[in-house]
Amino acid sequence: MDVKLETRAVPQVDSDALVIVGFEGTPPQAAAADQIQELYDSGEFSGKALEIAILHRPAGLKAKRLVLAGGGKRDKFDAAELRKLTGAVVRSLKSKGVRAITLALEEPFRSDDFVASAVEGAVLADLENDRYKTDPKKNEKQVESFAVLGGSQAGVDRGRVIAEAQNFSRDLANEPANVLTPMVLAEHAKKMAAEFGLECEVLDQDRMRQLGMGALLGVAQGSAEPPALIVIRYKPASAPKSKDHLGLIGKGVTFDTGGISIKPSEGMEKMRYDMAGGAAVLGAMRAIAQIKPSIPVTALVPTVENMPGSKAQRPGDIVTSLSGKTVEVLNTDAEGRLILIDALTYAQRLGCTHLVDAATLTGAIVVALGSVNVGAFTNNEAFLNKLLAAAKVEGEKTWQLPMDEEYKELLKSSFADLHNIGGRSGGSITAAWFIRDFVGETPWVHLDIAGTAWLDDAKPYMAKGATGVGLRTFVRLAESW
Ligand code: BES
Ligand code: MN
Ligand code: ZN
Repeated sequence: MDVKLETRAVPQVDSDALVIVGFEGTPPQAAAADQIQELYDSGEFSGKALEIAILHRPAGLKAKRLVLAGGGKRDKFDAAELRKLTGAVVRSLKSKGVRAITLALEEPFRSDDFVASAVEGAVLADLENDRYKTDPKKNEKQVESFAVLGGSQAGVDRGRVIAEAQNFSRDLANEPANVLTPMVLAEHAKKMAAEFGLECEVLDQDRMRQLGMGALLGVAQGSAEPPALIVIRYKPASAPKSKDHLGLIGKGVTFDTGGISIKPSEGMEKMRYDMAGGAAVLGAMRAIAQIKPSIPVTALVPTVENMPGSKAQRPGDIVTSLSGKTVEVLNTDAEGRLILIDALTYAQRLGCTHLVDAATLTGAIVVALGSVNVGAFTNNEAFLNKLLAAAKVEGEKTWQLPMDEEYKELLKSSFADLHNIGGRSGGSITAAWFIRDFVGETPWVHLDIAGTAWLDDAKPYMAKGATGVGLRTFVRLAESW
C-alpha cells in the first residue's frame, strides 16, 4: 500500500473514497453537508466510534464516495482512536474492493502525531495473516493507496516507518514454528540490519558455551534446532551527550512446548508467538534505524526452541547462568526467564545502562490483565514512568504490577541460588522477580506481553494473529530520551 500526503483541496480529490471523521452529536460541517445531515437525522450514522457510513456521488466532490467514519465523542478523540478508526475504514473498504482512499483531517487533528497515527492504522490494517492460503483470488481486493489531506509529510513518513516496522514484527510472529526456527529468525534479523544500516552479530551455540550462558543453553538442549543470541546495535551519528545506552531485550522462543514439563495439547499451537517480544525488539530497531534517536540502542534477542527431546533439561537440573548464579530448574516450562537472564547479563556487559525486556512470559498475566493491558514491572519507578508516558502517547495500554520484596521469597531454592518458579499465585510477579534478581541496580522495566501480543479474533482494525505490541513504546522511549 502506497501512503502519501494529499495537497489538493477536498472538492478536487478524485479518490475512490474520501473519508471524514464524524463525531457523536454534531455532523461535520464539510462537503456534502446536506447528505451528511440526512444520515445523522435518519439515525443511519450517529458518530459512534468505528461506525462507518458510505455515500455515493457526494454533492460537490470529485471523489466517488464520501465515507463517514465514527470518531466517538469529540473531546475523547485522540491519536489512538484515530489509529483504530483508519484501520477499521481500510479493512471495511478493502472488503468492498475500494482501491484508493483519502482521509481528510480537520484541525485540531492535523498534528504530526495524528497524521502518523492515521497512517499507522491504515498500514497495520492492511496486513493479512494469510501467507499460506493458496487461493489465487485472495489478493484481488487490495487498497492501493492511502492519502492524508491536512498535515505534514513528516507525519506521513513517521507513520509509514513505524507501521511497516510493526508489520515486519507481526509477520515474524505470525510465522509457524516449522518455518521460523531460531536460526531463521537470526537470518531475518541479519537481513533487516543490513538493509537499514545496523550492526548485527549472532552468537552461536559454541560462542554461548564459551561465555557460559548455561541458563539459555539449558533451555535449548532439548531441541534439534540450535539456539542463537541476536545482537543488533544502533549508534547515533553524533556523539551522545550522556553515557546512557538503552538495551532492548526480547524473548525469542520460536516454539514453547513446555519441554519435559510439557504443556497440554489444547491451544499449544499458539506457542509459536512465544517469540513476539523478540520480534517487537527487532521491529523497533528497524524503525529506530530510520527515525535516528540520539541515544545508542542495542537489541538482544535470545532465541531457542523449547522442546522435550532426549537431551532436554529435566526438572531438578541445576544450571549456571552467565552471571555466575545457579538456578534450579523446577519447571522447564518457565523457560523464558531462563533465556532472558543470560541476555540481560550480556546486555550489561555490552554497556547498556537502561534495560527493557519484552516477553510473552506468563499465562498469569493473561488472567490478571486479559488482552487489554501489557503488564509492567520495574526496579526503578522513574524509568518506568518514562516508559509509561511513551506507551500512553502510542496507545499501547500498559499497567504496572507491584514488586514487593515478599514475592521474592518464593524463589528461594534449597539446592541452588534460586529456582525458576514461584508457585501458582502471583505468577507474573514472581517471574518478574526472577529476572530482577539478575539485573541488580541497573534501571530495568519488564513488559509481560503474553496477553496482548496475539489476537485470537480479528478486530475491525487488525487481522487475527500477532499485534506487534511493545514496538511503538520502544521507539517512542528511545526518541524521547
Ligand atoms: N510462553 C509461556 C507463557 C504464555 C502463556 C505465553 C500463554 C502466551 C500465552 C511461558 O513460557 C510459560 O509457559 N509460562 C508458564 C510459567 C509457569 C510454568 C511458572 C505459565 O505461565 O504457565
Ligand atoms: Mn513456557
Ligand atoms: Zn514461553
